[in-house]
Amino acid sequence: MLVRHATRPVLFLALTACSTLLTAQDSAPTFYGDALPVFQDNCAACHQPEGPKVGGITAPMSLLDYEQAKIWAPLIKNALVTGYMPPWGAHERHRGEFKGERYIDDKDKALLIAWVDGGALEGNPDAAADAAGIVSNSVGTQMPESGWWIGEPDLVVGFERPVRVADEVEDWQPTIAMPVPEGAHTKPRWISMAELAPGGAWVHHIVSSHMGVGVPGRGPFTYPEGWGVLMPEDPFITVNMHYHKDPGAGTGVVDNTQAGFVFYEDGDVIDHVVETNLLPHSGWTIPPGDPNYEVNNTHEITEDIFLLSMGPHMHYRGKAMRYELEYPDGERETLLWVPDYDFNWQFLYEYEEPKFIPAGSTLHMSWWFDNSERNRFNPDPQAAVEYGPATTDEMANARIYYAPTTKRGIVVGRDLPADVLESARAAEQERRERADLLDLSEDDFSWLGEEAQ
Ligand code: HEC
Repeated sequence: MLVRHATRPVLFLALTACSTLLTAQDSAPTFYGDALPVFQDNCAACHQPEGPKVGGITAPMSLLDYEQAKIWAPLIKNALVTGYMPPWGAHERHRGEFKGERYIDDKDKALLIAWVDGGALEGNPDAAADAAGIVSNSVGTQMPESGWWIGEPDLVVGFERPVRVADEVEDWQPTIAMPVPEGAHTKPRWISMAELAPGGAWVHHIVSSHMGVGVPGRGPFTYPEGWGVLMPEDPFITVNMHYHKDPGAGTGVVDNTQAGFVFYEDGDVIDHVVETNLLPHSGWTIPPGDPNYEVNNTHEITEDIFLLSMGPHMHYRGKAMRYELEYPDGERETLLWVPDYDFNWQFLYEYEEPKFIPAGSTLHMSWWFDNSERNRFNPDPQAAVEYGPATTDEMANARIYYAPTTKRGIVVGRDLPADVLESARAAEQERRERADLLDLSEDDFSWLGEEAQ
C-alpha cells in the first residue's frame, strides 16, 4: 500500500520493455531490458535492498539487484510456476476486492520464466539508466524518523525479556505476552492504527490479539476514519509468533519484536465500533490419510453489519477454505475462496470498501483438509486429527472483523458508552483465560529444546 503510488512510473517502463521484446524477439530477455520492471511491479515491495519492515518482515533477497536475481533464478522460476510467489491466497475471481492483493499477470509471469530459461542474462545496465531514478522511486517510501510507519506511536509494547530462538529451531510458534509498561495505559483509548515491528527476517508471521495478522509485506493496521477498537485500561496484549529459519549451529537469534499503537484524539468521533469473531468450529475428526476432508459451519448475522475483513485459519493440513453468504432472500455469494491454503502465510483479506451484510443473512463456511502423505507439510498422515491448539492438531476458524451499521457518534474523551466498555473488558478477560503463554521469567532456556520439535 505504502509503495503503490510510487510504482506507477514503472508501468510506463514496462511498456517500453514490451516494445523492445517485439523488435528483438530472437534474443533472450534480459534483466535490465525486460525482467527488472516486472520484478519492480510484482516483487520489489518485499524483495528490495534492506527491505522496509513493511509488516515488519523481510524477504531473503533483493530482486532489483542483478547479481542476486541471477543466483536465485532457478528458485524464481519454481516459485512462479508453483504460484508460491507472489504470495496471496485469494482466488483470481476476487481481483480488485481486497487491500494489498498480489496477482501477477500471465504475460509478466511468462516473461520472467523466459528470462530464467534464457540463462538469466544481464543485458545493458545503461538500458535501465532511465529506470535508475524509477528504481529508487519505487522503494523510496521513507520510514519516518520514529522508526514506525504509523509515525510516533502513543504506546509501544514488547516482551518482558528478549526471546531466544535456539539453534535447532526451524519452525516454532509460541504465544507470548507483551506487558504494558507500568502507568503507560491507565484509561481506555480508541485504536486508530497499530503496527508490528518484528525483530528480524526470521519472524515469518505474527498473529496478535489487538491488531490482526502481520505477514511479510503487509503495512500497518489502519482502521477507516471513524472506525476503531477500544483498548481498555491495562490491556493484555499477546502475540502468537511464527519463527522460521534454517536450523543449525550458530543460527540462533534473539527476538525483540515490538508493537506500536496510535490512538484517536479527544474530540474525534467513533461511528463504528469494530468487533471481531473467531468463528471456530470443532467436533470433527479427520480420518488418517484422507486427502480431501470437508467440514462445514454456519453463522447467523442478526443485525445489519459492515464486514471489514476475513481471516481463514487452519494448520498444516489446511487445503482450501471458503466463506459464502446466503442473503435473506436465499441468494448466495462467495465472499472468499482460497483454493490453495498455505499455513505459512496467514493473510487477512480486507475489503477495499467495507461490505454491507443485511440482518437475516447466513454465513456458510467450509474448510478442506489434506491428511494424506501427498501433503508435504503433513506432520503425520497416520493420525486421526481433531481441533486443538498444537500445530500438529487442526483448526477450522473463520475470523471476521466487522461493525454494526448503526452509527454510534461516540466523541472520544467525552463519552464512553457502558456497553462498549463492558464488551472491551470482557474480551480482555477472555484473552487472559485462554492464553497459553510462553513463560519468559525463567533464566534457563531448556524449554526451547522441547518446544522446537
Ligand atoms: C509480500 C511480500 C513478497 C512479495 C510481493 C514477493 N515475495 Fe518472494 N518472498 C517473500 C518472503 C518473505 C520470502 C521468504 C520466506 C519464504 O520463502 O517463505 C520470499 C521468498 C521468495 C523466494 C525463495 C523461495 C524459496 O523456494 O526459497 C523466491 C524465489 C521469491 N520469493 C521470488 C519472488 C518473486 C519472483 C516475486 C514477484 C513475482 C516475489 N517473490 C514476490 C516475500 C515476498
